[in-house]
Amino acid sequence: MSAFAMTDDLLLGLDLGTTSARAVLTARDGRILATHAADYPMDTPRPGWAEQDPAAWERAAFEALGACVRAAPHPSTIRGIGLTGQMHGATLLDERDRSIRPAILWCDQRTSAQRQAIERDIGLAEVIARTANPPLEGFTAPKLLWVREHEPDAYARIRRVLLPKDFIRLRLTGEAAADVADASGTALFDVATREWSEAMLRDLAIPLEWLPRVVESPEPAGALTAAAAETLGLPAGLPVAAGAGDQAAGGVAAGIVAAGDALVTVGSSGVVFVAGDQPRIDPAGRVHTFCHALPETWHVMGVTQGAGISLRWIRDTLGAPDAGDGDPYDALTREAAASPAGSRGLIWLPYLQGERTPHLDPNARGVLFGLTTAHGRGDVVRAVLEGVAFSLRDGLEIIQDLGLPARRVKIAGGGARSPLWRQIVADVLGLPISLEPEDRGPAFGAALLAGVAVGVYASVQEACAATASQTQDIEPCPDTHAVYEATYRLYQELYPALAGSFAKVASLQG
Ligand code: XUL
Repeated sequence: MSAFAMTDDLLLGLDLGTTSARAVLTARDGRILATHAADYPMDTPRPGWAEQDPAAWERAAFEALGACVRAAPHPSTIRGIGLTGQMHGATLLDERDRSIRPAILWCDQRTSAQRQAIERDIGLAEVIARTANPPLEGFTAPKLLWVREHEPDAYARIRRVLLPKDFIRLRLTGEAAADVADASGTALFDVATREWSEAMLRDLAIPLEWLPRVVESPEPAGALTAAAAETLGLPAGLPVAAGAGDQAAGGVAAGIVAAGDALVTVGSSGVVFVAGDQPRIDPAGRVHTFCHALPETWHVMGVTQGAGISLRWIRDTLGAPDAGDGDPYDALTREAAASPAGSRGLIWLPYLQGERTPHLDPNARGVLFGLTTAHGRGDVVRAVLEGVAFSLRDGLEIIQDLGLPARRVKIAGGGARSPLWRQIVADVLGLPISLEPEDRGPAFGAALLAGVAVGVYASVQEACAATASQTQDIEPCPDTHAVYEATYRLYQELYPALAGSFAKVASLQG
C-alpha cells in the first residue's frame, strides 16, 4: 500500500537555474518525494556575454515537471506549482509572444556603457532612491538599452519583457505575471513600494505595457492551460503561484523569513542573505536590497563573486592530490585541514571574477598574499577557504552596519558540504551556524510558496514551521576566532592598497 493517501497535499516547485531546470515534488510536511533536473547550455557568443535559448528552458522545464508528476503516488493530489529561477535575465517577446532573440542572462557583462549612461543621465543616487540598488550590468534595464542601441530591429519588435521563470509561467498558464522579489532585480522596480518604478520607465523610455503585472510571491499568478496540463499529466486550471527569484526562494526553503534570519550560501559565488522588516538601503550600493518572498518583508544580500569558483580554480590549475576514485575537493580540503588557522600568514583575495560585495569593482583580481618557500599547497587551499569566508564576513558586516544584525545564521550550498569550510565560516564570523540539508534549495522554497497560494499553508511562516528540518549546529572555536580577527584586519587592508593597481592590471589584461 502506498504511504501516501489520496488526501495528501503534494506540491511542485520548479527552479529555472543557470545550468538546468530542477523540479521537486514535496509533501505537506516537507518530505521530498521526487526531483528531476534537465540541463541546457549557456552560450557565450563573446567573452563576458551569456545567453540562453528560451525554447531550451521550456523543454527542460516541462521535462523536469513531467518527470516529477509521473513519480507522484497520486498525481491528482498535486495542489499547485511554484516557480523560481535565475534572476535579472531579459526575455524579449513579440506581439505573438514568440522569443525575439536569445535571453540575456544575469551573468552577462556587456552593458557597462549602458549602466554608466543610466547613472550619468538619472544620477546614481537618484536610481538608488528609486530602485534601492545601482543599475548593475547584470540587471534587466541596462540590457534593454543595449538591445535598443545594438539591435534596433529586434528592439522594435518587443511587446513583452519577462524574467526567465515568468517566461515559463507564460508557457504554463498563458499569463504574464512577475513577483516582487524577482522584479526587484530589474532596475525598473521600486523596491520600497513594491511596484514598477514609473519614473525609471519614463526616463529610460521603456513602455510600462511591456512589463507584466506584479504580485506578492505567495499569491496565485496563473492556472495551467489545457494544453500544458495535458502535456504534464495534470488537471487544467491547476494554480501556479507567483514564486520568487532564486535567492528569495532559497531563503524561504531555509526558513529565513523573520528580521535578522540569515543564510550564507557557499556556491559558485558566495551569498549572505539577511531578512528584514523594512527596505534598508546601502547608499554605496555594495549590497542588494530586494523584496523578500513574503508581504511587507525585504532582504539585503551581499554577493561575493568567487567562492566555489576559487576552489575549482585551485583544482584546475594547481591540481589536487591523487584522490583515486574519491572527490578531488575532499583531497584538497584534507590537505588544507593540516595547515593551521591563518594558513601560516597566507591571505587570499577571492576576486577572480571581479567583485560585487564589498567592492563593487569589475577590475578587482585574485591575490595570494604573503607567499614564502615555507608554504605548501595545503596552506594555499586553506588560505582560499579562509579568504572566501572573510569576503562573506565583509558582506555580513555591511548588512549589520545598515542596522540589520544577523540573529541566527544558516549555511547552505555545495561549499558547505565541506566540514572544514563550514567550520572556517563559523570561526571567521564568530557565530554559531547551522547546516541546512542538501536538498532544500530554491525549488523547495517555490513549492512552499505554491502551498501558501493554494491554502495548504496559511502563510509562508506556517509553511516554514510545518517543514522545519533537522539542522546540524556548528559552534565557533574562540581561539581560532581570535586568530582570524587578526588575519581579517590584514585582509581588509589589502584591497584598498591594491585598488589602483587592479585597474591597471585589468587594462593590461585587456
Ligand atoms: C542574484 C543573482 C543570482 C542569479 C543566478 O542577484 O545574481 O542569484 O539569480 O542564480
